[in-house]
Amino acid sequence: MRDLPKVELHLHIEGAAPPAFIRDLAARKGVDLRGIFTADGRYRFRDFWQFLEVYEAATSVLKTPEDYHALTRAVLAESASHGVVYTEAFLSPDFCGGGDVGAWTEYLAAIREAADEAERRDGIVMRGIVTAVRHFGPDQARRTALCAAETAGDWLVGYGIGGDEKKGHLGDFRWSFDLAREAGLRITAHAGEWGGPESVREALDDIGVERIGHGVRAAEDPALVERLAAEGVVLEVCPGSNIALGLYPDWSLHPIRALREAGVKVTISTDDPPFFGTDMTREYERLAAAFGWTEADFMDLARTAAEAAFCTPETRKAVLDRLERQ
Ligand code: HPA
Ligand code: ZN
Repeated sequence: MRDLPKVELHLHIEGAAPPAFIRDLAARKGVDLRGIFTADGRYRFRDFWQFLEVYEAATSVLKTPEDYHALTRAVLAESASHGVVYTEAFLSPDFCGGGDVGAWTEYLAAIREAADEAERRDGIVMRGIVTAVRHFGPDQARRTALCAAETAGDWLVGYGIGGDEKKGHLGDFRWSFDLAREAGLRITAHAGEWGGPESVREALDDIGVERIGHGVRAAEDPALVERLAAEGVVLEVCPGSNIALGLYPDWSLHPIRALREAGVKVTISTDDPPFFGTDMTREYERLAAAFGWTEADFMDLARTAAEAAFCTPETRKAVLDRLERQ
């Protein structure tokens, strides 16, 4: 499983920070972060909302472009070790310079430099998606959209939104999504994780997303499942994240199989792997155990993800060729 070539579309860069990386940075900067770790050094949280608090506390020690360079380097080395050949990561101007375009540009340059180094070293290809943080509100999201529009191109390829899905409506953020789309960015949004099927409809109707982050709760509404399949909407499914956060009690009860069998384009990602005690190899192993999926199924899922990647056609072809060589 570890060696199968993988394509990941949904990874929050700060959420991929190993706890030891954050602890070391906190110690060097004299920040007391003991409260967010368990005695054995894992991130400590009870539920999704506390997870967001711990996430933001951990992220508070990432203060410079150099910190993000080191983070990106560590994250891509880990992903490559699990066979990931292409990854799209969510990047937040909110955390990288507070929404200031000039500062964001410097953070982005540092992240790209680390990505270029990782591609030369391990062959892993990374592209970025700017993400707004929903609970920071529509005004702050506008700043992130301006940052995204300013740096849109072959590397910074998408715009999305994460954070607390229960706050406000996606339609409140339409200005930001419209600006991003006009700048040539491709659109995804977190929905159908903590919001029900209606939140997935909002993402489709109010924002016009091409992909949905999670989207799994669409499974509760057969008409919506049919629509997702008919329209070819791609779900960035993160099963281990859903199970760690208690959305489903067990892998065998996760709706990814039902969605796939209904013809919905599903893909597999880790979301915030060290927070949820997962990695791409473990996702594959658990799905194989729960649903009997084989190497052929996983290669099919990886091709679906490559087809849904927001990169240029040339990069997509290189990724698909890499999968074919398996
Ligand atoms: N879900 C929603 N928002 C987030 C996440 C997540 O897993 N990680 C960071 N922001
Ligand atoms: Zn996410």
